[in-house]
Amino acid sequence: MGDPNNEPCCETLTVLTRSEAETVRLGRAVGQALKPRDVVLLSGELGAGKTRFVEGMARGIESPSETRSPTFVLVNEYAGRLLLAHCDLYRLSGPEETAELGLDDYLDRDAALAVEWPERARGEFPVEALEMQITFGESPDDRVFNVIARGESPRRLLAAMRVATEQHAGMGR
Ligand SMILES: Nc1ncnc2c1ncn2[C@@H]1O[C@H](COP(=O)(O)OP(=O)(O)OP(=O)(O)O)[C@@H](O)[C@H]1O
Ligand SMILES: [Mg+2]
Repeated sequence: MGDPNNEPCCETLTVLTRSEAETVRLGRAVGQALKPRDVVLLSGELGAGKTRFVEGMARGIESPSETRSPTFVLVNEYAGRLLLAHCDLYRLSGPEETAELGLDDYLDRDAALAVEWPERARGEFPVEALEMQITFGESPDDRVFNVIARGESPRRLLAAMRVATEQHAGMGR
């Protein structure tokens, strides 16, 4: 996923959330700005908040369906203003299996993609993506989002995160 400092093409943002609700709100802002074929790659340890963030994205596209963790279903679909395909590659054995998920087909069908554990299938996604690394902060409910936007569409999503951060005091840093 590269070092952002070596890639002047990319825009970066760091956001601190202090609760699950703040993370959902941050994800919702991305969902509201989401367009067909946008790709969001979410990295971070177990329990970092990747699924909570995608739950927010689903709300942002006004999806009426419940967001579940896709632990047993490899791809969850949320249909709202547009289709959002959410997958968790944690249990994937390698890139060959990714091909079988048909993620390209989703993009061909104008869906957006949110992917947990994308490092399990490095090189299988478009270069133009919004990538985030979520780490734990000082307090138990603190999460630090290090976000990199690679390309024009991802920049739109990063801008939405920035606006959401500025609107809610305490969410940015
Ligand atoms: N600031 C925060 N943002 C998000 N989740 C938080 C935060 N603070 C505490 N939590 C808790 O952390 C957990 C995050 O769970 P979540 O399923 O989103 O993790 P995940 O990154 O998807 O993990 P996995 O790799 O297992 O799928 C939830 O239990 C949530 O309540
Ligand atoms: Mg998860």
